[in-house]
Amino acid sequence: MCGIIGYIGRSEATGILIKGLKGLEYRGYDSGGIAVLNKNKLGIIKAKGEIKFLEEKLQEITLTGNLGIGHTRWATHGKANEINAHPHCSRHFAVVHNGIIENYSEIKESLAMSGVVFESETDTEVIPKLLELNYNGDAVDAIRKTVNLLEGSYALGIICTDDSDTLYCTKKGSPLIIGVGEGENFIASDVNPLLHYTKRAIYLEDGETAKITAKNITVYNASFAEIKKEIKEIQLNKSAADKGNFPHYMLKEIYEEPEVIGRTLEAVTHDGEVIFEDMPYTDEDFKNLGRIYIVGCGSAYHVGLIAKYNFEKIAKVPTFAEYAGEFRYADTVLDENCLVIIISQSGETADSLAALKKARDMDAKTVSVVNVPESSIAKMSRYSILTRAGAEIAVATTKAFSCQLAVLDMLCIYIARKRGACTEVFSEIAINMSLLLPKKIEKLFAKADEIKALAKELKDMDKCYFLGRNVDYGVSLEGALKLKEISYIDCAGYPASELKHGTISLIEKGTVCFGLISNKELLPKTISNLIEVIARGARVIAFAPESLAAELPQLETVVTYPDSIPFLTPSLEVIPLQLLAYYVANEKGLPIDKPRNLAKSVTVE
Ligand code: M6R
Repeated sequence: MCGIIGYIGRSEATGILIKGLKGLEYRGYDSGGIAVLNKNKLGIIKAKGEIKFLEEKLQEITLTGNLGIGHTRWATHGKANEINAHPHCSRHFAVVHNGIIENYSEIKESLAMSGVVFESETDTEVIPKLLELNYNGDAVDAIRKTVNLLEGSYALGIICTDDSDTLYCTKKGSPLIIGVGEGENFIASDVNPLLHYTKRAIYLEDGETAKITAKNITVYNASFAEIKKEIKEIQLNKSAADKGNFPHYMLKEIYEEPEVIGRTLEAVTHDGEVIFEDMPYTDEDFKNLGRIYIVGCGSAYHVGLIAKYNFEKIAKVPTFAEYAGEFRYADTVLDENCLVIIISQSGETADSLAALKKARDMDAKTVSVVNVPESSIAKMSRYSILTRAGAEIAVATTKAFSCQLAVLDMLCIYIARKRGACTEVFSEIAINMSLLLPKKIEKLFAKADEIKALAKELKDMDKCYFLGRNVDYGVSLEGALKLKEISYIDCAGYPASELKHGTISLIEKGTVCFGLISNKELLPKTISNLIEVIARGARVIAFAPESLAAELPQLETVVTYPDSIPFLTPSLEVIPLQLLAYYVANEKGLPIDKPRNLAKSVTVE
């Protein structure tokens, strides 16, 4: 939530900051602002709404200078307006902030008592005010004294008006990366905006502070002693952050799924076996597992729920899918015979990070599945598996979701083999079938027009339900989330059996219900639930594998997808649902990649 950027070098900062903020907009887009320093004078421009409005303002006002910071906001404290937009300032300082200062009201009260005047409703404004009070001509010292007073999370970009050639930054609990250029340097909340300028980065750890000039980078540890940091090569390509010829990132990312799923699977399989190199847990550890918890938020939770059914069936371990925000505060009893698997695309989701901390503190075994290699969750877990989805920009996750599913499938086979719960033959078949998924998904894209036509018909529905059993229930939750978050249609996923325990009272003539039927064994059960809603006037649209379509004569509309083994069908079943969500939102002319009120990476509670 919120993106920050900073630049120091020989070029004009404004253009670089705006381009950088556009690359960070998926972290929040309700207001933006930049501060540029020129001959010790700060120029600040802010605008409500997306970065394009800030850019529009800059057509009329010129801000020159080679040092600047910028911010794109997802409001936490105070409305989305210009006053609350960052940067926030004091006499000598301008600050951009990603995170939440938890003790800000206490600080604000004390400062107000000593006559400090606040302009905004934000938690952030206490930071420049504290910096000012702690400033005696040495900005690093002012930062040291200030961060000692802050509780909560922050990544800060800071300009001191006395230092025209220096950009400062510090972090705790929110990500911050230094982009290392030639005669110029950058800071950013993630690597995407850096890719236009450099592929070399320094990843700051919590408690670290940096003093950055165009040619030098000095990093201090939490005790403010100078330290040496490794410069790492950024693994992503520039094209990953471009839309290419697609009208939206979401569509581009759906079409990337065959490639990224293939890449993810290849990284963890070899000759019909699943390989997790350097796995710290032994065969004995896996044999002794009493319970597995799969924990995540939003779509990552749905991956966990789908995997739960597979883990119990194949690996034969009691498995629970948990929302990270619930898990972190629940009194779940964990011990060394529990495995907690944290799933997170960004690797920065606050609740997922806290859930991981809790699992670690209670001695549970921890494995994370993340898409961002240097993320906080990747670094904190004992073992981390990388999904190879590449940069995912659209707020609605698609390709990262599918890569997570693929990793969880492989982890399930791996654990099942270690426990002797499944045969080598099953594991070989499952792995070989999974390697066919990319081709099958490509084949599925031939259905895009059929799904687009369906979307046109359905775009005006005001509510709908997704119904399924077992893994199809997990997929139904994901189908509903995808559709609601970008089309703003009120929809929900349910176990097919649950509707008649209450929700069926909402079914009336024309209510749309999506029936997910991937499993032959459960087909008669789900069909009878669908017939129940048809009897009450619902319009049912089913999604089923090609081989089951003939068994659904009672259903008027059936969208099919290629067959696979039941274990893997969710990976195919979800694609038409992602496309449906996309096309419905597109028909409605909505801002698909940046739906209202949302941000890609939820780094606050
Ligand atoms: O980065 P994470 O995977 O931890 O994010 C979790 C959720 O915030 C995320 O999946 C969210 O639900 C998506 N917007 C769904 O499309």
